[in-house]
Amino acid sequence: MAIKYIPYYPDTIEGQAILDNFVRTRRMLKYRDNDKAVERIKRGMPLYEMEKQETVGDNIDGNIIIRGECLSACAYLKEQGKTVDLVYIDPPFASGVDYAKKVYIRRNPKVAEAIAQAEEEMQDDDLKAFEEKMYGDVWDKEKYLNWMYENLMAIKSVMSETASIYVHLDWHIGHYVKILMDEIFGEDNFLNEVIWYYRRWNIAGNSYAKNHDTLFWYAKNKPQYIYNQLYIPKSEKSSAQGKSWKSVIGEDGVRRSVQTDEPTKGVPMPDVWEISMINPVAEERNVDYATQKPEALLERILKASSNEGMIVADFFGGSGVTAAVAARLGRNFIHCDVGINSIQTTRDRLIAGKAAFDILEIKDGVSLYRNPVQTMDKLKSLIPGLCNQDSLDKFWEGAIISSKEGAIPVYIPNLMDSSTKLLDIVLMNRILREAMPDLPDDTRRVIVYYIDITDLTEIETFIADNNNTLIEVELRDLKEILDEVVVKDYVEFAVSEYKPKDKVFQNGFKVEILRFTSDRVQRKIDEYNQKGQVNILRGEEQSEDGTPQQKEKKFKPITISETGLELIEHISLDCSATEGVWHSDSEIKIDKLGYVSKNGTKTKDFWDGWVYCENKPLRIKIRNICGDETIKTVE
Ligand SMILES: C[S@@+](CC[C@H](N)C(=O)[O-])C[C@H]1O[C@@H](n2cnc3c(N)ncnc32)[C@H](O)[C@@H]1O
Repeated sequence: MAIKYIPYYPDTIEGQAILDNFVRTRRMLKYRDNDKAVERIKRGMPLYEMEKQETVGDNIDGNIIIRGECLSACAYLKEQGKTVDLVYIDPPFASGVDYAKKVYIRRNPKVAEAIAQAEEEMQDDDLKAFEEKMYGDVWDKEKYLNWMYENLMAIKSVMSETASIYVHLDWHIGHYVKILMDEIFGEDNFLNEVIWYYRRWNIAGNSYAKNHDTLFWYAKNKPQYIYNQLYIPKSEKSSAQGKSWKSVIGEDGVRRSVQTDEPTKGVPMPDVWEISMINPVAEERNVDYATQKPEALLERILKASSNEGMIVADFFGGSGVTAAVAARLGRNFIHCDVGINSIQTTRDRLIAGKAAFDILEIKDGVSLYRNPVQTMDKLKSLIPGLCNQDSLDKFWEGAIISSKEGAIPVYIPNLMDSSTKLLDIVLMNRILREAMPDLPDDTRRVIVYYIDITDLTEIETFIADNNNTLIEVELRDLKEILDEVVVKDYVEFAVSEYKPKDKVFQNGFKVEILRFTSDRVQRKIDEYNQKGQVNILRGEEQSEDGTPQQKEKKFKPITISETGLELIEHISLDCSATEGVWHSDSEIKIDKLGYVSKNGTKTKDFWDGWVYCENKPLRIKIRNICGDETIKTVE
């Protein structure tokens, strides 16, 4: 349950023809669900408990990675009195696509055949892999815009007076979001619409190839924003001649261009940027995150709109590109994302860049199982007896069939839609007045699950006073079910003293992994194998002459060895404490080809099944290839 609600940016924008944001929202954007957005904005940003998970290096600059939703991350920052100097966000585009990540089975150091395979330097296609959902980008426009409105209001509330914001979108929804930004930040604070143009392999079709994204850039409070003039570099010869222009703020507070004697640095940067997509063989591509943006794009934004030591925030951080570039350019960073995969990818990327930071997790009950999409997938199977009921409206997830009470319709909030996550009077009213009266006449009870609730007693009283049906309403806390989702992996390991013959390591400790099993990963592999078999059968059915169809590539089921070491992606040893915040004193990461990085440094070695540490390990943390983490204490 939220500890409290923090007010959004409360003031209307002076000098605009808008007297009240809410009124304008209603007038301009007239969404059907609009009242709910207004109610939520009035209530404020939900503040949840925050738990520090890990600390990396000597984090004197206060860099943070936050696992949780943008809205609650902003509530936390505001409560802490922390402001940010530059925001870049690349939120879901409402593209209608579910994003997935490929999960690669690693090589097992104890299986000879796998070693031989790995030494051949395989292609991606030859590696054993399956897919996992990362996040859903399937929205209807109204919901998306209501959601975005709240997020932008929340972000504005933590921007410093000289801060600016870049919102990265494309043709799907960008034009609508610009209207929201005019409203939230004020038309007068609009700075640029930047076009990021990228070349790619265009295929002839019936319209122009779509080769650009759009970034809307707004100041929090013009004219105080940071702008460092950038140039498109000219050749050295031409830059030696001529004068250049510089943008300065005069004593009267007005920004003007003045001529300087400095040699011309090139053409002042226009608002169309040609920057290549990430090259498949570039180092930054190794993080392998769907929708990942190039570092060159962020480098330009950070150089133009922030200075060293300032705080740069990305509330939809994905692969951690903003944090990585910020760390490299001497800026401080805040990275936020709902997905565990983003947090791990960013953590590992920043460790490779030798950055210091803390990892915090928002305890809102949603981030329990990898990400909201996967948690939703899991939920249905966890409610005993729940089955689909086609005769019910899609508002209901299905029904539990009871011999005494017949069908009991069940409502589950959609974790991907923050407007349904909280059970408040508005939602309860909708259930009582719109959803329940349409149920079959013989319905005696409904079950309403909630992930968060404004006030249980208040809602129960509201039901007692307003339920005009004969149907009983049972409220249930979804988090109790979600807790059951997390079944830890099993690991067997041996710790021994290590006295090296060579001088590569000092005397220390060796943690050898003997066996690893993960029901969570195994289930995914079983699903993949089953699907593959079904596809083969279908292919055979379709053959016309009755003979089995020849497939170009034969389906090979994934099998896992007895020791299961190929299911491990990352191992970290904590030699400092047996509980509390994690501190990694030694760690290894195994990439998809089997090469190992040690403490963030890549090597050309394959993993040999053990991890070295200088001091006695007290705890071991193992991350499986799907990203689930298990911690064991060393006895
Ligand atoms: C387009 S991706 C960002 C990619 C990133 N710019 C990069 O270059 O790697 C959008 C990200 O937003 C995250 N996300 C979706 N809804 C969110 C929310 N409400 N709060 C925080 N992050 C969210 C997703 O998990 C995803 O990683």
